[in-house]
Amino acid sequence: MNNKAMLNVYPDSIGGNLKGTVAFLQNTAVEGAFHNLYILPSIYNSDLDRGFSVISYDLNENLATKEDLQNLHVGLKLDFVLNHASVQSPQFQDILAHGNHSHYKDFFINWNTFWADYGHMTDKGYIQPDPQYLEGMYLRKEGLPILMVEMPDGTEVPYWNTFYQQKISRRKYLGQMDLNIHSPLVWDFYENTLEKLASYGGSIIRLDAFAYAAKQPGARNFLNEPETWNILKRIRLMADKYNLQLLPEIHAEYREKVHEKICKEGYTTYDFFLPGLLIHAIEKRNGEYLIKWIHDIQQKELKTVNMLGCHDGIPLLDLRGLLPDDEIDETIAIIVSRGGYVKNVQSKKKMYYQVNATYFSALGENENKMLLARALQLFMPGKPQVWYLDLFGGKNDMEAVRLAGEGGHKEINRTNLSNEQVNRALKTNLTLKQLELLRFRNTHPAFEEGAVLTVTGEGSQISLVWNHGKHMARLDADLYTHIYTITKTS
Ligand code: BGC
Repeated sequence: MNNKAMLNVYPDSIGGNLKGTVAFLQNTAVEGAFHNLYILPSIYNSDLDRGFSVISYDLNENLATKEDLQNLHVGLKLDFVLNHASVQSPQFQDILAHGNHSHYKDFFINWNTFWADYGHMTDKGYIQPDPQYLEGMYLRKEGLPILMVEMPDGTEVPYWNTFYQQKISRRKYLGQMDLNIHSPLVWDFYENTLEKLASYGGSIIRLDAFAYAAKQPGARNFLNEPETWNILKRIRLMADKYNLQLLPEIHAEYREKVHEKICKEGYTTYDFFLPGLLIHAIEKRNGEYLIKWIHDIQQKELKTVNMLGCHDGIPLLDLRGLLPDDEIDETIAIIVSRGGYVKNVQSKKKMYYQVNATYFSALGENENKMLLARALQLFMPGKPQVWYLDLFGGKNDMEAVRLAGEGGHKEINRTNLSNEQVNRALKTNLTLKQLELLRFRNTHPAFEEGAVLTVTGEGSQISLVWNHGKHMARLDADLYTHIYTITKTS
């Protein structure tokens, strides 16, 4: 994976559909700033979770066409949601139509079959696993991760459902249903999906929530080892056929060193530490932990994709083990005081997963801080990914959260923009400066493959110097004044 910058959007983030992003990338003010585009999975037919509940991997023609994709002229990153598929997928619909006679009977995980020997049947029709099995299990929501669905014969059957679900009426549901990786049909589906993503021009494939795929009674059921790595290897063999590079996505505390394992297995990993570390460094006016992380990346030769904002919240739980707990709490408090939402994992207080806020609002809507954060990101090792709203100084969208109702906290940072709004932003210092930095990062030879980074600093001062042959690019940043300077060879 090269280290040039990548834009990240929903297909309808700019101007209503992908044509808006095509036009944006071709705008002379933007040209050269992005080498890749990461389009979130609402580009496929999907329902819940703004794309992450895929009905089929066919394009949602209301939002994007093959022609739009061809007009992009940048490398494409797309999602492969291997852990789950929508209730509305043809496979799950087949189960709802034919019950036990369905060809796809084992495509999803029948909870009762899975736990048959490890619990007792309740009068509600699902097996309650014995406490010792649930104790160590990683659960994302309260209660058991199941959706009860009614079969044609009227019986109710629980299916494994790690993420979102919604019951609309009797026999009408929405939900992200976990796939059964022991079914050969699931593997055929994986292969067909990867082939399809390649046919769209995909070159980087984000493996969404891959750590939930391997399941076994008595295990944590989150990153089960070695099963998870074996699944990834099998997917990789398929992906290689289509020249696809895999980017596994996982949130875990730094101290668990999962990011290191991912790299050891030969993958690029997400740098989910940088967003929180930068806010911490800027707010505390101290770059100590940021420098520590850069040294860590260098010493362990970690290959990363980094970002400021993204479609999810700002990850803070991930920083455990890298930043002292009280400093994590302080950083969370700052973002919350500026309008951010905290979502607790398993409803347990103090198990902060992410804080939902735009990055600009998290930084107090201070343009100098935002530009400083961007400059630092672009001097980091790794491939920089840029959330479109950050480019335009997007602010916390409280109205969108209100409209989305219960569980709609992520909408705070997902505002769609009209072409007019974007064109207006393209005249602002905040947007133009970021584009200039991005172009610089993409084109200056000091950042070419094989370049060497030297980082020094103390207190609020931090310097990052890239050298490649006779080429040099240097960032001197002051976390106190938020002023930075860039010096470079021509
Ligand atoms: C995505 C989330 C999504 C979840 C389930 C995550 O990794 O980033 O937005 O809700 O996977 O697909």
